[in-house]
Amino acid sequence: MIDKSEIRILIATGIITMLFIFSILYAKNSKNIDLPECLPYNKTYEEPKIVKLDSNIYQVYVVAQMWQFQPAQIYIPVGSTVDFYLTSKDVVHGFDIYEKNVNMMAVYGGINKTTVKFDEPGVYKITCHEYCGVGHQNMQAEIIVNYPSSK
Ligand code: CUA
Repeated sequence: MIDKSEIRILIATGIITMLFIFSILYAKNSKNIDLPECLPYNKTYEEPKIVKLDSNIYQVYVVAQMWQFQPAQIYIPVGSTVDFYLTSKDVVHGFDIYEKNVNMMAVYGGINKTTVKFDEPGVYKITCHEYCGVGHQNMQAEIIVNYPSSK
């Protein structure tokens, strides 16, 4: 037999959980905020690479590892849309792109994905913001966004 006060707490917990889920869906759909996606793991993501799908559509497979990101330099033209697929070969690393509101975790055995558009030229630093050992503060990469050469 459940006590009445327990039932009340269960109902309140249910309501709060629904509010929480609703607020995430609201942020995603109405405010157009991109949530990082978690994809099924696959060995192909352990190979760092930059794939050009179209003149300004790219996929970048980023592999974090003590204490570097690969690829360390990513060159793309202005106006590019990039899908980042992120994983780690060892411990948990962070993945933060300056000025882009991107904050992901690189996790061994897991893939996180987010999509970013680069409308302004410049050098966008990527840093690891999750303490990962003695080389943590040197763990960086960069995205170089430039106008396509006229050649
Ligand atoms: Cu990798 Cu801190």
